Amino acid sequence: MIGVGPLEPDDRPAWAELFLGYNEFYGRALPPDALERAWREFHLGHRMHALGARLDGALVGIAHFLVHPSTTSPDACYLQDLFTSPGARGRGVGRALIDAVEEWARAHECSRLYWHTKEDNHTARRLYDQVAENRGFIAYVIPFQS
Ligand SMILES: CC(C)(COP(=O)(O)OP(=O)(O)OC[C@H]1O[C@@H](n2cnc3c(N)ncnc32)[C@H](O)[C@@H]1OP(=O)(O)O)[C@@H](O)C(=O)NCCC(=O)NCCS
Repeated sequence: MIGVGPLEPDDRPAWAELFLGYNEFYGRALPPDALERAWREFHLGHRMHALGARLDGALVGIAHFLVHPSTTSPDACYLQDLFTSPGARGRGVGRALIDAVEEWARAHECSRLYWHTKEDNHTARRLYDQVAENRGFIAYVIPFQS
């Protein structure tokens, strides 16, 4: 059975493994202090938020998200990171995490939940096409750090 809830102090090693796996998926190496900084921010709970998904008690998925103002509506919730353990995929964990972030965002009076993905991330898009609208925006970036 899948359960989604806050990350607890004991989750740190399993969370770190998932977050590193997520960054590896994108071919990124995390800066040395990034894990510590994100973990600290989640527990302060002001700027960055996280939920974890458990399957039979083991942490198998993570969602990281944040809230930002909007010029045209109440605050928006941005889902920045979503990752499930390769061994637990296709069992509804990703969907359960999105549902839980949506519930969180509604409870915090956000006007919407949104996220980006790569056009060719077909696996993720199979899920996303079932739970959200693709409104056709594309993203541009000017990176300041590699
Ligand atoms: C994208 C990701 C989070 C999905 O997680 P997941 O736990 O496998 O997702 P779910 O089991 O909830 O999948 C829900 C739907 O997606 C589709 N799907 C997901 N994985 C699938 C797979 N391996 N094969 C076929 N369909 C799949 C199914 O249509 C499924 O719908 P269903 O429940 O009606 O059958 C996971 O594959 C992942 O972490 N990928 C690597 C990182 C990544 O791409 N993150 C997202 C970046 S934006």
